[in-house]
Amino acid sequence: MIHEGKARIEVYSDVFYNPRMRFCRDADMEIFRSMKSKSYLDALAATGVRGIRATLEADFANVEFNDFSRKACENIERNLRLNGVEALIHNRDAAALMRERSYHHVDIDPFGSPSEFLDSAAKSAFRYLSITATDTSALCGSSPLSGLRKYGAFAEKTEYYHETGVRMLIGKIVREVTKYDKCPEVLISWAKEHYYRVHLKLRRTSRGAGKIYEKTGFILHCRKCGWRESVNIFETPEMFCQCGERSRMYGPLWLGELHNPEFVSRLDRDGETGKLFERIESEIHSVTHYEIHEICRRLRMSPPPLSDVIEALKERGYPASRTRFSGTSFKTDADIREIEQIISEVHRQH
Ligand SMILES: C[S@@+](CC[C@H](N)C(=O)[O-])C[C@H]1O[C@@H](n2cnc3c(N)ncnc32)[C@H](O)[C@@H]1O
Ligand SMILES: [Zn+2]
Repeated sequence: MIHEGKARIEVYSDVFYNPRMRFCRDADMEIFRSMKSKSYLDALAATGVRGIRATLEADFANVEFNDFSRKACENIERNLRLNGVEALIHNRDAAALMRERSYHHVDIDPFGSPSEFLDSAAKSAFRYLSITATDTSALCGSSPLSGLRKYGAFAEKTEYYHETGVRMLIGKIVREVTKYDKCPEVLISWAKEHYYRVHLKLRRTSRGAGKIYEKTGFILHCRKCGWRESVNIFETPEMFCQCGERSRMYGPLWLGELHNPEFVSRLDRDGETGKLFERIESEIHSVTHYEIHEICRRLRMSPPPLSDVIEALKERGYPASRTRFSGTSFKTDADIREIEQIISEVHRQH
């Protein structure tokens, strides 16, 4: 018997339960409390822990569970009884179920890639979509061919690879939901250990679903000097970096906001999940980020404290912040030449 949040969960053999995803579910419950879903599908439910916690902790009504494993469905039934929750359980292929039924809120929490479920989830959900991906190497550029196969986008590994991964995942979701005249807004997203998690709000509008493409496009990245730029899908990129090297082009990716500041500001600041929300809230919007060791390696100097670099950038009028993706990285609007100059100055002062 496992206690997680307000739920008590029994895990049958061969039914999936990952205690390391508890942090993710804890964060979800806080987020769900701000979402007010009117009907929720835990589409890949396994033990049912997420949907049960959503019922008990976020007051979700009309929660339904699905898993194509018979054993998992029996396990969910047992766990519902243990927690005094009544709900419908489907024993179906999730994609087939989502083609047939609509929900206010659909949650896709697969083992591996969500890509095979995104079309049907985009059709089914009419207000909220919550998506997990654990195939981070396909998304972040570690396995470019997997990225192309699963997400129809190209990337290579860079110092901001987890941000690329989250942007590739959201970019794919955008292309799926806009087919159904739904316009997405990112409420919150993060990368942790070996998974990415994104929560989106959808509005039905064909005009909005077209206009949202202004926030998708490509990152041009120079592998020689670290310079990068983003161009939206309507622009024609300049392929050569100022250093003379031909840039690499990654995408199509989501280039828009990775969270809604107003939404995140309402989330509770308690505990470990509170720290994540705080870090997310303090992050400025810019399309990539810089890793201080990577820059200092190129400059052949030891890295000065990150907080000093961020302060120095701000003093010179550039927006700058830490980032949710890495403890040794920062975001800023300054370009790589300005950043290098500022880091060199900070280094000299030390
Ligand atoms: C990673 S587990 C879900 C974990 C669960 N959401 C949690 O928070 O503990 C993925 C589940 O999806 C189920 N599954 C995989 N493919 C499916 C499909 N096409 N349709 C329905 N269920 C599927 C598996 O049986 C497994 O129980
Ligand atoms: Zn260059």
